[in-house]
Amino acid sequence: MTADPMTLSRELSGPVSSEAVLEAYTDSVMNTFGLPKRVFVRGEGCYLWDAEGRRYLDLLSGLAVNALGHAHPTVLSAVTGQIATLGHVSNFFATPSQVALAERLSSMTGASEARVFFTNSGTEANEAAFKITRMTGRSTIISTEGAFHGRSMGALALTHNPKYRLPFEPLPDEVIFVPYGDAEALASVVDETVAAVVLEPIQGENGVVVPPDGYLARAREICDQHGALLWLDEVQTGMGRCGSWLVHIDQGVAADIVTVAKGLGNGFPVGACIASGQASRLLGPGSHGSTFGGNPVAAIAGLAVIAVIERDGLLDQAKELGDHLQRTITQLSHPLITGVRGRGLLQAVILAEPIAAAVVDAALAAGFVINAPHPDVLRLAPPLIISATELDSFVNILPSLLDHVAQESL
Ligand SMILES: Cc1ncc(COP(=O)(O)O)c(C=O)c1O
Repeated sequence: MTADPMTLSRELSGPVSSEAVLEAYTDSVMNTFGLPKRVFVRGEGCYLWDAEGRRYLDLLSGLAVNALGHAHPTVLSAVTGQIATLGHVSNFFATPSQVALAERLSSMTGASEARVFFTNSGTEANEAAFKITRMTGRSTIISTEGAFHGRSMGALALTHNPKYRLPFEPLPDEVIFVPYGDAEALASVVDETVAAVVLEPIQGENGVVVPPDGYLARAREICDQHGALLWLDEVQTGMGRCGSWLVHIDQGVAADIVTVAKGLGNGFPVGACIASGQASRLLGPGSHGSTFGGNPVAAIAGLAVIAVIERDGLLDQAKELGDHLQRTITQLSHPLITGVRGRGLLQAVILAEPIAAAVVDAALAAGFVINAPHPDVLRLAPPLIISATELDSFVNILPSLLDHVAQESL
């Protein structure tokens, strides 16, 4: 392969066949994700194109990431402008965009004192949060059944699924799992030995599970009673996905630690651990670090995303479109659909049978990208810039996808 940039980009964006790429994939990329179902070569707005030129409506946004869709002009010009000016300097030095993003994220928490540790992913944001909790002098963490917080050894210790955990044990221990959404279960385990309670405001990977109203507020009270930190993992739910910057703020709840990533950079890898008050002072020089975290390009990507979401009123739009999606799917009254749940543009269609994986394949064949976090759950996390008409195109075809799969497999 050439090192000449013009030739390199032609080689990568020129004609390739999916078959050839997938054959090479198997021999060159570790098999942690299974064989990819498509090879995508281009994206624009809410659409993706595969190597054979077929177009797909992206209703997954790279797993709740591309809030502004693909190749958004503002993100593009912010990122290219920044990399042309100053791409990276390490955390021995500060840059204006890094500080501006830290201020912006801190202000989203509503806390009078908040500080940010920047990372490249949600997992790393949670690792930073985990380390903060250890600095309290207490070590027990309360997590929840069904929780997903990442796959590094620390984040995995807080992730519940035994399939992910068991091959890698021993993990950091002193983690207690309680049923999600059950505030009294939480109350029964939190005491003066607990450093933190970590919760997703909505469990994304567990199938978009929405807790009962008041759950986060009650968790706040329980933490306050025992001097434990409330750590909210908004990696999937935050940054506008559910119709607000942060779900817990929308519910009037304050957290001590908030982690975000995914939608923050619209595909540029950036995550953040935002701590408030006393928790924002627990990590000192040498206690944590990251070479890339908060580099100026990642930071400007985050600032650009926030600016566009604000300018284009995408928080309200996400709420309205989420309600529209719930309503129109419910109105289908399809016998294989037992419910729709979620907030804003993080929604799940609950199926009466464990056929979600086959429905995902049928949707792909019909030109729609969705996913199945559970055998009986379809997840929809489209770009926040999507239109009601585009969502309707999926809702209209959903009954025939379900019927087709039912005919083939039930
Ligand atoms: C709630 C939550 N936390 C953490 C993570 C891990 O984030 P990442 O994959 O960016 O490391 C995810 C990813 O799905 C997530 O949904």
